[in-house]
Amino acid sequence: MSFNFADVEDFDLHIEASIPGYAHMVKILKELARYYYKPGTDIIDYGCTTGALLNSIKDTNGANLVGYDISDAQFNTEGQATLIKRDITKPELADTGRACVSISLFTLQFLSDREAALKSIFQAAKRGSILFVAEKIYLSDSRLNERLSSIHKQYKQNHFSPDEIMIKEAQLRGNMHCVTDHELMQELNELGSVYQLWQSGQFGLWAVEIKK
Ligand SMILES: C[S@@+](CC[C@H](N)C(=O)[O-])C[C@H]1O[C@@H](n2cnc3c(N)ncnc32)[C@H](O)[C@@H]1O
Repeated sequence: MSFNFADVEDFDLHIEASIPGYAHMVKILKELARYYYKPGTDIIDYGCTTGALLNSIKDTNGANLVGYDISDAQFNTEGQATLIKRDITKPELADTGRACVSISLFTLQFLSDREAALKSIFQAAKRGSILFVAEKIYLSDSRLNERLSSIHKQYKQNHFSPDEIMIKEAQLRGNMHCVTDHELMQELNELGSVYQLWQSGQFGLWAVEIKK
């Protein structure tokens, strides 16, 4: 059986407990994103789960908040954001060039066709806009990678039982398509100028200034 995000009871709490420093990473993203908000454009979160990130954005300078996720089971529809059930690996022509801010946090790593999703994100983005991508990456040095995994496991033990950790790891095994740091840079360099903003072990956040 594979891991299903829609089954997690409180997803926002779950992600905080799973990724060390997640809240600080989101703070960096939100502060920088403000400089790109433009009236009549979109702020799009690809793989938005509950929509919590979008709904926590207060002053958008007239930009629309839009979230996409393949599952609508966790959508919290009480906020300002429009949350839409959609497979982000399938491009939609209506989106073309409208996004001033694009966000993909820990979502590409679950896609079997990352290239299609990145194409679709690029197509929807305005020239000179910003894309934030957070991913779990594998470091090219496998020993360093294993050590970081073990440090991460220790962190999770503060929040989850050994059984919960083991079951989730087993369920994620076939679902995760993490790439190495070099592979991610190759993917992102195709879209524009890339800057790393944050890293916590194997988890990182990058900004791409979209070049068209
Ligand atoms: C780790 S969660 C993302 C967490 C969220 N972005 C955050 O930082 O709080 C991955 C999300 O990707 C969604 N997802 C997986 N495949 C997808 C696809 N093909 N299209 C859209 N969403 C997808 C899952 O339903 C899940 O909500």
